[in-house]
Amino acid sequence: MFDHLKTLPSDPILGIIAAHAADPNPKKIDLGIGVYRDESGNTPILECVVAAEKILIATQTTKTYLGPPGVARFNRAMTGLLFGEGSDTISRGRVCTVQTPGGTGALRVAADLIKVSKPEAELWAPDPTWANHEALFPGAGMVMHSYPYFDATHSNLRFDAMMDALQQRGPGDVVLFHACCHNPCGVSPDPEQWQVIADVASKRGFTPLVDIAYMGFERGVEEDCLAVRLFAEQCPELIVASSCSKNFAMYRERVGAISVVTQNTDRAVAVESVIHNITRKNYSMPPAHGPAVIDIILHDDELRARWRTELENMRSRIKGLRDTLSEMIAASDIQRDFSFLSRQSGMFSFLGLTAGQVQRLRDEFSIYTVNSSRVNVAAFNQHNMEYFINGLARVLKNQG
Ligand code: LMR
Repeated sequence: MFDHLKTLPSDPILGIIAAHAADPNPKKIDLGIGVYRDESGNTPILECVVAAEKILIATQTTKTYLGPPGVARFNRAMTGLLFGEGSDTISRGRVCTVQTPGGTGALRVAADLIKVSKPEAELWAPDPTWANHEALFPGAGMVMHSYPYFDATHSNLRFDAMMDALQQRGPGDVVLFHACCHNPCGVSPDPEQWQVIADVASKRGFTPLVDIAYMGFERGVEEDCLAVRLFAEQCPELIVASSCSKNFAMYRERVGAISVVTQNTDRAVAVESVIHNITRKNYSMPPAHGPAVIDIILHDDELRARWRTELENMRSRIKGLRDTLSEMIAASDIQRDFSFLSRQSGMFSFLGLTAGQVQRLRDEFSIYTVNSSRVNVAAFNQHNMEYFINGLARVLKNQG
């Protein structure tokens, strides 16, 4: 059965973890995978998580199965964060939320739900989008197209071209949006532009699918949910894939959720039953630990406040790194303009390097970026920035 299988190349993002780990250069820098790092290069466990884990260990009495919905109080808390406590969407019973293994799990369940509900539906995603979107949706049997999004020449949003493309979409089409901190380009629509997008979605009747993996990393928890809330208010149907990997720094615990907004409670109940059926056939039930911890944090005033502060600290540190990096590059002998770094947000930006330059950064300086020259800005610190800028200057000087 397996004789014909060839070894596949490693994943374009995950493969960098191993390549960096095997590199003996003490100056090596991993700018690949999107994880937050502190000044010492560590990805710490949040204090609110440590405190909640202690409570959980002291109070849990069983490890029996949770059942298909997972931790029900976590699902309700995530619904509140995404759509706003007391929002019309929630009070009218239009939304169901089911815990999933990470945001990627939510995206896969979303793809399966679309295949069950409307097998011929096709997906439109921004150009570019997260590398794993391009693997995941076709992997679930969906035909995938792209719409214009990032202007690589000016490092900003191609808003007019994007709107022209969205005007062509209609009922039966699914359009993928990144709610904030676009991965990989770091460029998002502003609030007025989101309003225009939501108006077009409601007028044209396509189904928005919002991926919100960095809630709280662009402008704040509430602000980063703007797209989710506008679509929920203006469109009859909406799918949201959310992740707690980054904003609770619970990466390896795989915590996420799928939320589906429908026209009324009866349909929300039906959709939730279909989601349970999909997950049962796939991984049966979601895991408990991460959502149980987040349930404790979000239902405890002190821990919830601590979480908001810790998240705010991560957000503002990344913003500070963006500003410092762009200032230091401007003050170096690099001629090219990198000021876009401070205008963009979240963990990622493109450096705009050629494949040859990316390879030289890796081979000559042990600086690891994704092949597209996407960097994780959160991996910079006071110790590695100068080394990085020297390497960048060298590969830009001798184009290759
Ligand atoms: C990334 O893009 O680096 C993160 O979303 C992590 C991942 O799974 O790829």
